[in-house]
Amino acid sequence: MPAHDAVEVIIAKRDGAELSDSQIDWVIDAYTHGEVADEQMSALAMAVLLNGMTRREIARWTNAMIASGERMDFSSLSRPTADKHSTGGVGDKITLPLAPLVAACGVAVPQLSGRGLGHTGGTLDKLESVPGWQAALSREAMLAQLEDVGAVVCAAGSGLAPADKKLYALRDVTGTVEAIPLIASSIMSKKIAEGTGSLVLDVKVGTGAFMKDLERARELASTMVALGTDAGVRTVALLTDMSTPLGLTAGNALEVRESVEVLAGGGPADVVELTLALAREMLAGAGRTGVDPAEVLASGAAMDCWRRMISAQGGDPAADLPVARETHVVTAPTTGLLTRLDAMAVGLAAWRLGAGRATQGAAVQAGAGVEWHARPGDLVTSGAPLLTLHTDEPERFSRALESLEGGYDVQPTGTAYEPTPIVLDRVS
Ligand code: URA
Repeated sequence: MPAHDAVEVIIAKRDGAELSDSQIDWVIDAYTHGEVADEQMSALAMAVLLNGMTRREIARWTNAMIASGERMDFSSLSRPTADKHSTGGVGDKITLPLAPLVAACGVAVPQLSGRGLGHTGGTLDKLESVPGWQAALSREAMLAQLEDVGAVVCAAGSGLAPADKKLYALRDVTGTVEAIPLIASSIMSKKIAEGTGSLVLDVKVGTGAFMKDLERARELASTMVALGTDAGVRTVALLTDMSTPLGLTAGNALEVRESVEVLAGGGPADVVELTLALAREMLAGAGRTGVDPAEVLASGAAMDCWRRMISAQGGDPAADLPVARETHVVTAPTTGLLTRLDAMAVGLAAWRLGAGRATQGAAVQAGAGVEWHARPGDLVTSGAPLLTLHTDEPERFSRALESLEGGYDVQPTGTAYEPTPIVLDRVS
C-alpha cells in the first residue's frame, strides 16, 4: 500500500478536495495500527463533518473499515439471514420482539448489538436485565444458536471492523458523531462484515434521534442503502418517528417487560406496528414473502422462540425481572389532551435515573427508567399519574425531573390533534 502523510490527507479534506482511494486505504489502515495519531484522525473527522464526502469516498472508506478486521460467513446455515439496525432511539426495544418473531417465520436473525451510550439505550443492556443472560458468545456458539433457535442477539466481537471501534470512540469525544459519511460508513462496515444476506435499517427521525429532520435522515438512509446494495446485501430503510418515545417505557428491565407483552399478543400499539412493519421488510429481504408475521405473532410461536433464545444464552425467561427500589410519580398538571411527549426529555430522564451510562464501561441499573401512562393523543386527568420514574438511587430524581421540564404539553380537551405516523418514509 503506498504510504501517505497524515497531514497531507487532513489538509486535502480541510481544503475540500476529494480523497483518493489510496489516501483512504492508507489512513484507515495506519490509524487502526496506531501510526496515525488520535489527534490527527480527530482533525480529519472534523474536516469530513464540515466538508462532506462523495459517494465514492464513503464507499471506499467503508470498505477500508471492513478490511481492517475479519468477516463473518453465514452461508453454512440452512435458512436465509436478515438483520435489522436502528440508528438509536428512546424506548426502542424493537429488536427484542422482532428477532424471535422473524426467526419464528423461518429466517435466521444474527443481531450483533452494542451497549448504550448517552440517552439511547443499548439492546445488550436491556437483555442483561434478564437473570443469567450472557451477551458474549463464541462464533461457533452463535452459528449453532442461529441454526437451532434462529435468533441470536449478542455482543459484536472485537474482530469486526476494529477501525470503526477506534474511530467511533474518538468521534464520541470530538463532536464528530453527526457526520453522515461517518455514521453511514460506521454502521454499514459492521453490517457488511457481519455477513447478513439482507438488512433493514430503521433510521430514526426527531428530537430523540441523531437525525432531527427528515431531509438529513433521507440522505443518511439513501447513503446506507447504496453502500449495502453495492456490497451485495439486500438493503432497505424505513424512516421512523422518534419525536415521541416508543411504547410506554424507557429503561432496561422495563423495556424487556414491555417486549414480552408484545410477544404475548398485547403491548403498546406503536411497538406492535413498528415490529410488524420491520418484520415484513426483513421477510421480504430474505425472500419469505408468503409468511404473515402478524399471524405468527398471534400464534405464540414468536414467544416460544424468545424463550429458547433467552435460555440458549443462559437466561431464565420465567424469572422475575429486576425492579428499582424507589419510584417517583409525576402527575398531570391539568385535565386535557396530551399533545406532546418529547423523546429527548424522556431519554435524558431515563439516563439520569441510571438506565444509561455516561462513560464507556460504566454499570447501568437494570430496574431504572421512565414509564409514561399516556401517549400523545390520550386524555389525561389533573392529578392522575402521567409518568413514573424508577431508580435505585433516590438522589437521582431531581436531575431526572429537570430534564422532563417542558418535555410534555397538555392542551384543553377538544384541541385538534394530528398523530404523527410511525413510519414516515421508505428508501430502497
Ligand atoms: N451507530 C453506529 O454504529 N455508528 C455511528 O456512527 C452512529 C450510530
